[in-house]
Amino acid sequence: PLGLVTIPTVVHVVWSQAAQNIGDDQIATQLEALNRDFRKRNADLSVLPPVWVPLAADADIEFVLADVTRTRTDVATFDTDDGVKSARTGGVDPVSTDTHLNLWVCQLGGGLLGYAQFPGGPPETDGVVVTHTAFGSSGTATAPFDLGRTLTHEVGHWLNLRHIWGDDGDGCGGDDFVADTPNQAGPNYGRPTYPKVSCNNAPHGDMFVNYMDYTDDAAMVMFTLGQAARMAAALRGPRSGLLA
Ligand code: ARG
Ligand code: ZN
Ligand code: CA
Repeated sequence: PLGLVTIPTVVHVVWSQAAQNIGDDQIATQLEALNRDFRKRNADLSVLPPVWVPLAADADIEFVLADVTRTRTDVATFDTDDGVKSARTGGVDPVSTDTHLNLWVCQLGGGLLGYAQFPGGPPETDGVVVTHTAFGSSGTATAPFDLGRTLTHEVGHWLNLRHIWGDDGDGCGGDDFVADTPNQAGPNYGRPTYPKVSCNNAPHGDMFVNYMDYTDDAAMVMFTLGQAARMAAALRGPRSGLLA
């Protein structure tokens, strides 16, 4: 086992309107939420249906703020094309991607909350992007995405987790390559009621309380032991530069 892994994190705030230049307090609420979620210290774990309590994992990963950069831009809204990740396109370049998590906070377009690069991609675009209104829980953070869970979800991807429904649309043939998550048809939204059955997963149904579903921040409260093991494998493998 790896033991506790601490990941130095750089936050790049990129703004065109003053409100998007979020405060240090909003950044602090986000890092606190991320650490609570990855260390299974989130109080709302109490909403878990009892059947999943034994599967909820302490991922043993913590994040420490290493630096904050602030960049003014003429770009009104960014997209999944990685424009925010380069000074050439109105954003800011990442730093030390081998050893640091780079986070860009900006105005995303089209209702997009965030997106991440999986392990093994190009260093110049490595990291996670989150729209400022879904970042942290103070300042511009807006319900129902104001508990910092967009970053929890995206850092899950950055450490190689797939969506819990297996990314095959609404079919039952997709796989998230994690053994202890139930097979699930498609994404869940909002705040589902237990049990929500699909793909012959009765009686317990979809694990819509998982950070890798698409439910509201207040509904997602856990990673599984299998997901934690998959993230640890990414840290031993393609992301081993993060191990001090
Ligand atoms: N990439 C997903 C999106 O933008 C993130 C979903 C995060 N969900 C949440 N409850 N914060 O749609
Ligand atoms: Zn996702
Ligand atoms: Ca599916």
